[in-house]
Amino acid sequence: MPVRFPPGFLWGTATAAYQIEGAAREDGRGPSVWDTFSRTPGRTRGGDTGDVAADHYHRRAEDVRLMAGLGVTAYRFSVSWPRVQPTGRGPAVQKGLDFYRALVDDLLEHGITPALTLYHWDLPQALEDAGGWPHRDTAERFADYAGVVADALGDRVPYWITLNEPWCSAFLGYGSGVHAPGRTDPVDALRAAHHLNLAHGLAATALRARLPAAARIGIALNTCAVRARTGSGADLDARRRIDALANRVFTGPLLHGAYPDDLLAGTARLTDWSFVRAGDEAAVRRDPLDWLGVNYYAPTIVSAAGGGPGSSADDGHGASDHSPWPGAEDVSFHQQPGERTDMGWGVDPTGLYDLLTRWSREAPGLPLMVTENGAAYPDRPSPAGGAVHDARRVRYLHGHLSELHRAMTEGGADVRGYFLWSLLDNFEWAYGYAKRFGIVHVDYATQTRTPKASAHWYARLARSGVLPDLPGA
Ligand code: FCB
Repeated sequence: MPVRFPPGFLWGTATAAYQIEGAAREDGRGPSVWDTFSRTPGRTRGGDTGDVAADHYHRRAEDVRLMAGLGVTAYRFSVSWPRVQPTGRGPAVQKGLDFYRALVDDLLEHGITPALTLYHWDLPQALEDAGGWPHRDTAERFADYAGVVADALGDRVPYWITLNEPWCSAFLGYGSGVHAPGRTDPVDALRAAHHLNLAHGLAATALRARLPAAARIGIALNTCAVRARTGSGADLDARRRIDALANRVFTGPLLHGAYPDDLLAGTARLTDWSFVRAGDEAAVRRDPLDWLGVNYYAPTIVSAAGGGPGSSADDGHGASDHSPWPGAEDVSFHQQPGERTDMGWGVDPTGLYDLLTRWSREAPGLPLMVTENGAAYPDRPSPAGGAVHDARRVRYLHGHLSELHRAMTEGGADVRGYFLWSLLDNFEWAYGYAKRFGIVHVDYATQTRTPKASAHWYARLARSGVLPDLPGA
């Protein structure tokens, strides 16, 4: 039986501003925390920065034509806040808005549906200097910024994503410090998580007030497929604790209007959560989500402290002396046995099935989209002819799309689209340019784009809605 997806299912690719745009100092753009962080010695691999990245700011039209040539029907991109508001507040820079308007117009002209992320980690440095996400005012500033972008592009963008992976912003940015701004205070990480939730809620209200009724507001969460290494009570408890800090700290207020009790209890030694003011939890879902975006790469396997051979404090997000898990620093993490990607992440498509069916059970009637999924491999153009044979990426995608389909058919999940991470090889945060996630290879010396075998494979899927067989299968 062919694996067939419903008509109208969105076949997208995804990117983020800082990872592809470059042009870091052009047209009035202000610095973001990622500019500062990546220019600080020792923070990114080899000192890589996003100054040039994939030069998308200057190659926008070519990149949209590339997507159109592949037959993709949707594109998830992010707006750089400091391109629009260089200090995170005040009047918009027209040239910054013009860039995104031109991008959206190009997409629409090619029949590609835009999905706009307002925040993919590039906080204006001036707001970090004023306290960053641990500081409540940042949430208010974000809502103002959301309004500015909605006024400029609301008439032509149907899908809106407030935040990308607030877990990373809060817990990697302010907990383990492996992401910008690189701070390491567990309470600041929790404060940041709350202010990100609040920022989402305030922005959703600002967007709702401005966008046409048909516009759909969502958020992209890297909800975590947490698995206990054994069925022991201690390991199951480790799973519950990580689930609270990875997932329910966001889905609690977003879907149910409250932080879970066990999260508050598990962090009580650190904070009384008095930074959550009366009415905040209601504000997070005053204008409830129209859809939920799920980013998935790999499962997370945990056990109680001292998890035995092969266990470590490293959960796959990058080594640090500081844990990104406030109150659960003792939990051990384990590698998925078997195949791994170039990030060292295990390959297990069933995690995607588990997440999609979980959220569909927990939020009945809420449409889902996979807003990121993909894999890094050290792809090189072949010496003869320059083609890139990324067979492992095709296998990875095939496996995950099979599970996505199964989640829709057997699992009853209402999934409306899939955004492959990523269109282009790009700046992979602290790993710099060393990790290649693109289905299109980028030669950074010349900025030449070469679609990999996975791009041709994905094009067949996007055109037919039928999962192509694996080559050679
Ligand atoms: C996600 C990020 C995205 C990209 C992928 C590999 O956590 O949202 O920007 O770096 O991981």
